Amino acid sequence: MCFLLIGLSRRQWSLFTDSQMETLPRPELFYFHGVGMTKYFTENWENTQNFKARPDDILIATYPKAGTTWVSYILDLLHFGQTHPERLKSVPLHDRVPFLEIYIPNWLSGTDQADHLPTSPRLIKTHLPVQFVPKSFWEQNCKVVYVARNAKDNAVSYFHFGRMNNAQPEPGDWNTFLQNFMDGKMVFGPWYDHVNNWWKKKQTYSNIHYMFYEDLIEDPGKEIDRLCSFVGCSPSAGEKKKVLEGTSFDKMKENKMTNYTTVPVMDHAVSPFMRKGKVGDWKTHFTVAQSEHFNEDYKQKMKDSTLQFHTEVQKSLDNRSYRF
Ligand code: PPS
Repeated sequence: MCFLLIGLSRRQWSLFTDSQMETLPRPELFYFHGVGMTKYFTENWENTQNFKARPDDILIATYPKAGTTWVSYILDLLHFGQTHPERLKSVPLHDRVPFLEIYIPNWLSGTDQADHLPTSPRLIKTHLPVQFVPKSFWEQNCKVVYVARNAKDNAVSYFHFGRMNNAQPEPGDWNTFLQNFMDGKMVFGPWYDHVNNWWKKKQTYSNIHYMFYEDLIEDPGKEIDRLCSFVGCSPSAGEKKKVLEGTSFDKMKENKMTNYTTVPVMDHAVSPFMRKGKVGDWKTHFTVAQSEHFNEDYKQKMKDSTLQFHTEVQKSLDNRSYRF
C-alpha cells in the first residue's frame, strides 16, 4: 500500500494510507451552538477558538463552494509567486493556505498547519459563520477577505462536492439536497445567515473586503486590482498577467497543486473539484418548479438584506479585461 507523502503535510498525512482515507466513514450532520456541523470541524474547537492570530494574517472567509480556492490562489500568487516560486510546484495550495477549523484525527489539523507555516503573511481559510471566528482575528485587526456566491450556483456546487467528498455528509438526491439547503440543514449552517451576517460585520469591523464570485468571473482583472488595494500589493503588469493566467479555471483545473487531486477523500471520477467554474450552471439543475419555489423562499429569507447577487453574467468572456 502506498503512503501519502505530500508537501508540508507529510507528517500528518503519512499516518493514513490512501485506501484508509477513501473508506473514511461519512460524517453525520449535527447541530453545534445552533449551526450544522460535522465532527471534522468541531473536534478541535478549543484550539480553533484559542487560535492566536497575528496582525498581518489574512483570513479568507467563505460559505463552502463560493470561490475559496480561487481567491486563495490569487492571494497566494500575489504574495509568494515571486518570492517562493518553488512552493507553487511542490506544496498543494490547501497546505499553503491552511483550513483553520478542520481536524481529522491522526491526519490533519488546520490550527497546527497554520502555526507551522514557514511563510508570512499567513493566508488562512475558514468557512466559519462570523460568530464563530476566533476573537484574536478581531483583536489583531486582521484583514479579512469574504467571498460570496449566488445561492443557486452555490447550492449546485455544494451538492456535487457532497457527492465526491467522503468527508462530507451523504448529500442525497438533488431535490433532497436543495430542500436541505433552503432549510439551512448544511455544514456551516444556512447560506442566508452566513452571507448576511458577514455582510453586517462590515458595519462594525472595517477591515473586511467583501467580494462576489460573479464579479470575479465577469472581470477578474478588476477584482484583482481591488484585492491588491485591500491587501497592499502592487504587482507589475507582468506579475499581474501571470496571476490572471495562472488562476484561470482551465489552468487551475490542470494544476495538481490547486485541483485537489492530491486529497484522497475526494473522488474526482464522481465529480471533479474543479467542476464547471461558471455563473448560471444552476439552470442545468433546477427545474422550473424548483426555481420558482426557491425564489419565493429566497425573497422571504432575504427580505431585510441589502445584498444583491447576480445569477447570470452579462458580459461575454471576450470582454474580460485580462485578455491581453
Ligand atoms: S471549497 O471546497 O469550499 O473550498 O470550494 P471553493 O473553492 O469555495 O469553491 C469551489 C468552486 O469554485 C470554482 N472555482 C473556480 N471558478 C472559476 N475560476 C476559477 N479559477 C475557479 N477555481 C475554483 C470550482 O469550480 C467550484 O465551483 P463549481 O461550480 O462546482 O465548478
